[in-house]
Amino acid sequence: MHRDKIKFDLLIHDLKGPLAVIEAGVSSLLTRREKYGPLSDKQDKVLVRALRNTKVLQALVNDALELGRSRAGVINVTCSKISDVIEQSLVELFDLVDRNTAEKIRICADLPRLKESLEEKGISLQIDEAIWCQEVFIDEAKIRQVLRNLLNNALKYRKNRVEVVVKKGNGHLFLSVTDDGEGIPQIYHKKIFESYFQLDAANTHTVRGHGLGLAGVLVLIEDMGGELSLESDEGQGAKFLVKVPLTNR
Ligand SMILES: Nc1ncnc2c1ncn2[C@@H]1O[C@H](COP(=O)(O)OP(=O)(O)O)[C@@H](O)[C@H]1O
Ligand SMILES: [Mg+2]
Repeated sequence: MHRDKIKFDLLIHDLKGPLAVIEAGVSSLLTRREKYGPLSDKQDKVLVRALRNTKVLQALVNDALELGRSRAGVINVTCSKISDVIEQSLVELFDLVDRNTAEKIRICADLPRLKESLEEKGISLQIDEAIWCQEVFIDEAKIRQVLRNLLNNALKYRKNRVEVVVKKGNGHLFLSVTDDGEGIPQIYHKKIFESYFQLDAANTHTVRGHGLGLAGVLVLIEDMGGELSLESDEGQGAKFLVKVPLTNR
């Protein structure tokens, strides 16, 4: 069993190489036209789409690898600025769905300007300037993956708005992601954290993943010694709350 797991992780790991080559190639065609030649509008569109999907694939591979590490008990605590962690998660998320917003976020000089850019997308970011600038000891890759997944769901299921709150206190980092969508009936509050479970999966008018996101999020949070909870009722939107202990190493 253990050997199979290693083979499987290795397979996922080995996807990185060819994906990097595809990404570099398509990027070059798009950005270095003086060398590779001009593109028609249609060609440009196809390549932009190919590049975006390559990035989605790369993100999935990285997530799968991080989950594998987590299951193997690997915790990688580093000193990180809270602002970097949040900004990076947002860039990684928007890189996959909305390049312009990703670029805007990347060049945001300060918190007020970031809040403004997010507000244009219906996202309200609430964090004190004092916490924004602080450094904490956390497993940054895991926190980013958690935040990206929760935000991705919130953006997918919201009606209009999403609210992200970041707080710090009593040796813990608190994150919450709230949306104003259909919400999740009480009876499914445990179920949605199980792999492959999707509410209303027969309903195909929205694009769905595979029901692996929240199951992974829960594994990552538990491995960091944290807690994940959900407050939601049918028709009332959903609020996911994350509490992760901060170490002082
Ligand atoms: N913010 C949310 N509002 C309503 N339902 C949600 C929300 N987040 C998750 N869900 C439900 O939980 C299921 C599992 O979510 P997830 O594990 O992220 O899988 P996926 O996004 O791949 O469908 C989703 O298919 C959806 O039915
Ligand atoms: Mg999801």
